[in-house]
Amino acid sequence: MDINIRRMYLTDLNKVMEIEPIAFGRHHWSYDSFVNELNNPFANYFSAFDANNADLLLGYSGYWLFHEEAHITTLATHHNMRRMGIGEKLLLNDIYTAKELGASWLTLEVRVSNIAAQELYKRYGFKNIGLRKRYYQDNNEDAIILWTDNINKEDYMLFINEKLSTLGIQLDTGIING
Ligand SMILES: CC(C)(COP(=O)(O)OP(=O)(O)OC[C@H]1O[C@@H](n2cnc3c(N)ncnc32)[C@H](O)[C@@H]1OP(=O)(O)O)[C@@H](O)C(=O)NCCC(=O)NCCS
Repeated sequence: MDINIRRMYLTDLNKVMEIEPIAFGRHHWSYDSFVNELNNPFANYFSAFDANNADLLLGYSGYWLFHEEAHITTLATHHNMRRMGIGEKLLLNDIYTAKELGASWLTLEVRVSNIAAQELYKRYGFKNIGLRKRYYQDNNEDAIILWTDNINKEDYMLFINEKLSTLGIQLDTGIING
């Protein structure tokens, strides 16, 4: 599926909220949390749309950037369009844009039960470095803490650039195009 990824706007949020509760269940972010996130100077959020239908939001992701560390805070794809490569493209966009903005490492927490997400992150070199016990308040589930190695290493960026090119990803991040 061809997709376009661009920065998330406030006007995307009604569509985001159609995906969010199904992706994350009872303890999903609210509309207002997203508004706060879009106003957070450390945050970078992106929306993925169908390249053939600019109204169809396929997924979204983003991270907080503190110095050289990018902390992925969310990643979700539309429930009817899973396993079509959208999550992978959003993750690639996170990695690429975070690097462009000065990050050297990416990190995140993932539920121990969330095998789908863990498999995706593993594919991009995220490694399990420990647990945050009872991190998720809805069911006291533990979180696995994942980190990349330094993403500025030449072999890693070659891998990312090759992926971007083979997957034909169009990025309009506002960074590349100024
Ligand atoms: C995790 C999530 C974003 C993956 O999105 P997606 O668009 O379905 O992922 P992709 O199609 O790009 O999958 C890429 C790879 O991830 C892995 N993967 C994705 N879904 C998987 C599943 N259900 N089981 C096992 N591996 C899976 C596979 O390695 C897959 O590659 P493959 O299809 O070639 O085998 C999506 O399942 C989602 O929105 N889940 C709910 C929200 C969530 O858990 N977010 C992560 C929070 S940390």
